[in-house]
Amino acid sequence: MADDTAVELPPLYESLTWLTPLSEERAAHLVAFLSDPAPARVLDMGCGWGELLLRVLMSAPQARGRGVDSASASIDRAGQQASARGLLNRVTFDLMPGAEAQYRPADALICIGASQIWGPPVEDAQPLDYAAALRSLRALVLPGGRLVYGEAVWSAVPHPAATAPLAGRDDEYLTADALHELIRAAGFEVVDEDLAGIQEWDDFESGYRGRFTRWLEAHDAHHPAAGQVRRQYEEQRAAYEEGYRGVLGMAYFCLAG
Ligand SMILES: C[S@@+](CC[C@H](N)C(=O)[O-])C[C@H]1O[C@@H](n2cnc3c(N)ncnc32)[C@H](O)[C@@H]1O
Repeated sequence: MADDTAVELPPLYESLTWLTPLSEERAAHLVAFLSDPAPARVLDMGCGWGELLLRVLMSAPQARGRGVDSASASIDRAGQQASARGLLNRVTFDLMPGAEAQYRPADALICIGASQIWGPPVEDAQPLDYAAALRSLRALVLPGGRLVYGEAVWSAVPHPAATAPLAGRDDEYLTADALHELIRAAGFEVVDEDLAGIQEWDDFESGYRGRFTRWLEAHDAHHPAAGQVRRQYEEQRAAYEEGYRGVLGMAYFCLAG
């Protein structure tokens, strides 16, 4: 992803519904899977700004929810969204590293794009420890409970133009089939699985670049940082459209514990 540290850009939640390629149709499917039969407790590990968790709580009016994320802007936003939907009495959002959270197992669990919670820091540029993540998730779901697990995968054989703007390594991700095997080895039953489609990816990437376009719209073209923001936009666009589009995938697994 492009370096955006120098300029304060609008928060991602202003142009994205979730921090993952996810259509409204797929989100509705995931919410239905998690809320029927109605859960008592819903946990979201690496919840971002909590949109999926809040939708499950809207759909399961007796359920209580808990989300954890290490990003304060996302947790703040999650609290605001819970308040706006009248859910503050049924949900708690915790700002902390997920591995430090001491939660009782829940009957509905969400973990999308957050396997790094249980592995080496992403900055160490090592492959994520998916098996460790799945073991930890297994311990967080009650027998007979359900987990929605989403993780990035290679959806085509990685090539240099695809890996260069990512971590530059072919072993950064697994295939969906390899992840499926680890999921089964961790003791989950795969109820269904699917890859995000190219439209979900295009929408996600366009929303991700939205922070650059929103900044450019809000500032004079001669602002000292305008050139840098235009470059960041262009780097991100090229990274995707000329790089990992159709190669980096996102797999969504609906699992029974
Ligand atoms: C790809 S985003 C997905 C967010 C959300 N699940 C969604 O689908 O919109 C991954 C999230 O994991 C969070 N995260 C990363 N490392 C974490 C850690 N060690 N503990 C808690 N959250 C973490 C990030 O802050 C980010 O919100």
